[in-house]
Amino acid sequence: MELTVNTIIDSEKCNGCGLCVKVCPRETLSLVNGKACVTGKTSNNCGHCVAACPMDAVRVTTLEPLQFSSFNTENAWIKHGMPDIGQLVQLMASRRSCRNFKMKPVDRSILEDLVTIGTTAPTGSNSQEWTFTILPDRSQTENLGDHVLSYFQKLNRMARITMLRKVLRFLGKDELERYYNNYYERNEERIRNWKSKEKDMLFHGAQAVILVGTTEAAACPKEDALLATQNILLAAHAMGLGTCLIGFAVMALTRDQSIYKALGLGCKESIHSAIAIGWPNEKYNKIISRKKIKPLYSSMDPVHFL
Ligand SMILES: Cc1cc2nc3c(=O)[nH]c(=O)nc-3n(C[C@H](O)[C@H](O)[C@H](O)COP(=O)(O)O)c2cc1C
Repeated sequence: MELTVNTIIDSEKCNGCGLCVKVCPRETLSLVNGKACVTGKTSNNCGHCVAACPMDAVRVTTLEPLQFSSFNTENAWIKHGMPDIGQLVQLMASRRSCRNFKMKPVDRSILEDLVTIGTTAPTGSNSQEWTFTILPDRSQTENLGDHVLSYFQKLNRMARITMLRKVLRFLGKDELERYYNNYYERNEERIRNWKSKEKDMLFHGAQAVILVGTTEAAACPKEDALLATQNILLAAHAMGLGTCLIGFAVMALTRDQSIYKALGLGCKESIHSAIAIGWPNEKYNKIISRKKIKPLYSSMDPVHFL
């Protein structure tokens, strides 16, 4: 993780308000003779100082401004409590996994904007060690599908051997048995339909795919990738696009290194989600609720002395 200090203060502009010092999570900055100064040896490079400064006197040289080409947005920070919570929740609840896509391509500029939106998510220790691999058109999506389904063809060949499943279960490895019981039949159908080009039961006819991963330098790889993924899913809905997470593609990718190679991915990257994306060929009339969840309250003693 990069902890080098990349913060620069323009002392001419600094009014000495100390807001940057107050929000810094690493004590990188302090006030010296009424001006903000870099006095710490490490930095999260999170940009809290830049965001807090009312005088535009702080810069973190490694941070690039967010730029989008398919829509306009303002650079101003929205205060706590200001966004319309009702609309935000409506957006979250309106996102649905899309399994019917139009045969209309998605512009690369839109896909790249979605990646940038993904990067607004938090990351453990602000590592930002994501990888976003775009398969921008249907032919590449189909190529990935060929690889994924050839992996499941091999897995199904093994899973249909009763003796093999029994021996593995005897050895305490019941994964193949569980796969056989839960996915074998459906994946046989997926493979059949994929080969006959009758129905795409893997990517559901999506034109594009974004694979979200992390490098080995990520502090919290899965969490980082999945938070970026959720940003992309919500933003895609707001942009008129449909999305569906494809866990089967991730499963094949993580178990068959040859797919990594075919995609041109480095062996130090890990893929955590595959997002099928396209223009939706379906619409809904209402929001569907979820299973009732009862929050639990901790039974921990509220007073704690060290
Ligand atoms: C980790 C994960 C993997 C998923 N994998 C698939 C998949 O391979 N194929 C698919 O059609 N849907 C997949 N889904 C979508 C789920 O089926 C879907 O989220 C769930 O049915 C709830 O529906 P909703 O997304 O419309 O709210 C996946 C979802 C998640 C979170």
